[in-house]
Amino acid sequence: MKLAFVVAAAKNGVIGRNGGLPWRLSTDLKHFKKLTMGKPMLMGRRTWDSIGRPLPGRETIIVTRDRKFAAQGAHVAHSVEEGLHVASEQAKRMHADTIIIAGGADIFAALLDRADMVHLTEVDLAPEGDVRFPPLDPGKWVEVACEVPARAANDEANVRFLTYARR
Ligand SMILES: NC(=O)c1ccc[n+]([C@@H]2O[C@H](COP(=O)([O-])OP(=O)(O)OC[C@H]3O[C@@H](n4cnc5c(N)ncnc54)[C@H](OP(=O)(O)O)[C@@H]3O)[C@@H](O)[C@H]2O)c1
Repeated sequence: MKLAFVVAAAKNGVIGRNGGLPWRLSTDLKHFKKLTMGKPMLMGRRTWDSIGRPLPGRETIIVTRDRKFAAQGAHVAHSVEEGLHVASEQAKRMHADTIIIAGGADIFAALLDRADMVHLTEVDLAPEGDVRFPPLDPGKWVEVACEVPARAANDEANVRFLTYARR
């Protein structure tokens, strides 16, 4: 089973602010949907809180240490390993060959060494923020695709869709 990160990061590495995203980018939301549709998505409890609902056509697995936590329409796991196990079962059921790792920083940090692909949306901003994604080590990751989508009227910035594969 492959692990694919999906992350949008500003030029300064910022990915989040005050429990949400520091930008409005409809172009990236569409890209996120395309990359994640039909697949299980593993995410930390705070990222789940920021989305607030299960996304149609995908299975969400939430990682939390809170044994009492429950979320309608999503699966709950109490460690990253358990989360991967549940995600793997869901992937088989969905006939998907990839588990999406949807963040945030804790979950990215726990799994970066095991990721196969990173789908990075590079956001042409340098906002204030409290959650970051570290630069990818060029010794370990190679850029295999780069797409520059047209900017939509309601996008707050230009973006580039970069795909990295493990060397
Ligand atoms: N730009 C992007 O691509 C992107 C992607 C994702 C998220 N974000 C942003 O990032 C922020 C959220 O990320 P975050 O880093 O603050 O939090 P997060 O990684 O989404 O969630 C952290 C929570 O996950 C649980 N957790 C983490 N490691 C665990 C482990 N080993 N075992 C069990 N549970 C574990 C804990 O939940 P409990 O506290 O419940 O125990 C922890 O508080 C938001 O601002 C969001 O909008 C941005």
